[in-house]
Formats: sequence, structure tokens, C-alpha cells
Amino acid sequence: MSLEDKLALVTGSGRGIGKAIALKLASQGCDIVVNFFRRREAAEETAEEVREKGVKAELIRANVGDPNKVNEMFDTIRDRFGYLDILINNAASGVGRPIMELDVKAWDWTMDINAKAYLLCAQRAAPLMENRGGGRIVGISSLGSSFVLPTYAVVGVSKAAVEALTRYLAIEFAPKNIAVNAAAASAVETEALKFYIKEGMIQDTRQPTPVGRMVVPEDVANVVAFLCSDEAHMVRGQTIVVDGGTSIAPFVF
Ligand SMILES: NC(=O)c1ccc[n+]([C@@H]2O[C@H](COP(=O)([O-])OP(=O)(O)OC[C@H]3O[C@@H](n4cnc5c(N)ncnc54)[C@H](OP(=O)(O)O)[C@@H]3O)[C@@H](O)[C@H]2O)c1
Repeated sequence: MSLEDKLALVTGSGRGIGKAIALKLASQGCDIVVNFFRRREAAEETAEEVREKGVKAELIRANVGDPNKVNEMFDTIRDRFGYLDILINNAASGVGRPIMELDVKAWDWTMDINAKAYLLCAQRAAPLMENRGGGRIVGISSLGSSFVLPTYAVVGVSKAAVEALTRYLAIEFAPKNIAVNAAAASAVETEALKFYIKEGMIQDTRQPTPVGRMVVPEDVANVVAFLCSDEAHMVRGQTIVVDGGTSIAPFVF
């Protein structure tokens, strides 16, 4: 699969799963816009590793939960490149609390970064993709969109929104030749997982899946790369589960 001369924006790609996606797409010849929020050093490292693969990397700091910052990020992409081929909506945050402790601030924070940003980025990405005759959008979700995890309510709802929006985008953007899908992972060992375990949101799930090992960021990146390929042209509005089979064997694992 080649993504030569394509340009991808991967939100939150300074570390974790976003970084693995950026490196995977870069290894297929794709230039990368590395978006980050707080951790500039990590994002610079990602950009450097992207460049080592022989492609371009542009660093853009933007809190995707802030609509003005999303607009500024896309203005920069428009002015610098004039086009975009791939959008990966990966950046996420969240407040882990039981329902009765969720306040408006926690709800808005989580929904703004995880769900509203997906809509705003897709709206700004579409015209830049149309300049190229089409494009690919992939939303990153989690099993918490469909399964109940302790104190994960607002994050789970935000991920359900990601999956529903993926379906709507897929149909409305199909005439623009923009394919939209999502990938939903089970527990992946990143800083986010360590946080959720510490907060008691999930049990220490660092245990093998039916496949015999945990899901790693590269497993998610491989599926995302497939969804960005020509081979996935007729896959639309789907959420591909990347969990080593865990969710279909809940009484075994
Ligand atoms: N880890 C898991 O077990 C797991 C399972 C299923 C799904 N997922 C999903 O996979 C995606 C990546 O998760 P991860 O585990 O790699 O997370 P992570 O290690 O916590 O990294 C989060 C990334 O998102 C960025 N980010 C956070 N808030 C942002 C904001 N407001 N604006 C822009 N960037 C922001 C961070 O950037 P800075 O560092 O610069 O702040 C960082 O690069 C998320 O959508 C997550 O829900 C993760």
C-alpha cells in the first residue's frame, strides 16, 4: 500500500496510538501534520521520527477542544499546503467519574475534545480533500462506546458519538469521494491506560487477549492504514474493532 505524496493530519500524534499511526502512514510515504496540545517535546520527537522515514512533518499546536484553535490549525494547513488527503481524529481526553459526580464542566471538556472536535475537523478537512478529488477520515474509538466500564460514562458516550458521527459523515461525504470509518480498540498500553487503571476506571487489563497478548498501538495503526488505502474504498461508516477477540468472548477473558 502506498500513500506517496499524500498529506495526513493526525490529531494528538505526539505520543501513544496517534504517534504509531503517524509513523505507520509516514512509512507508506505520507507527509504528516503532527498535532499536539501540551507535550511539545514528545511531538517534536514524533516529527523527527516521521522525517527519518523520508517524508515531511509539520508540527501544529492546537487544543482540538477549542473551535478557534481547530480553525487556526486548518488555516495553517490551508496556507502551508492547500490540501489534505487524510484526517485521523485520534486526540482524546476525559474525566473519569461515576455518573452522580459528573458535572457540566466534565461533560463539556470530554465531549468537546473527543466528539465536537471530530465534527469541526471533518468540516474543515472536507474542502481541502475535495481539492484533491477525495480523501479518507478515520475516527478513533474504544470498546467503551458499547460496553460499560466503571467511571467511563462520559468518555464512553463521547466514543459512541464518534461512531455515530462516522456513519453520518460516511454517507454525507460519499459524494465528495471521502471515505469515513472508525477503529475501536480495547485496552492498549499507553499513558491513557495507566491513568484509567490508576483512577480505577478499568481493572488492570494488562492481560492477554484471546490472541495471547495485549493490543499494542501498532495494531491500531495497521487497521487505520488499511482504512486509508485504496483497498478499503468500499468500506464506509464502519467501526473496526481491534481487540484480539476480547469483546466476543466476554465470559472467557
Ligand atoms: N489506550 C487505550 O487503552 C485506548 C483504548 C481504546 C481507544 N483509545 C483511543 O485511542 C486514542 C489515543 O489514545 P492514547 O491511549 O494514545 O492516549 P494518550 O497516550 O493519552 O495520548 C493522548 C494524545 O491526545 C493528545 N491530546 C489530548 N488532549 C488534546 C487536545 N485537547 N488537543 C489536542 N491533542 C490532545 C495528547 O497530546 P499532548 O500530549 O500534546 O497533550 C496525546 O498526544 C484516543 O482516541 C483514545 O480514546 C485508547
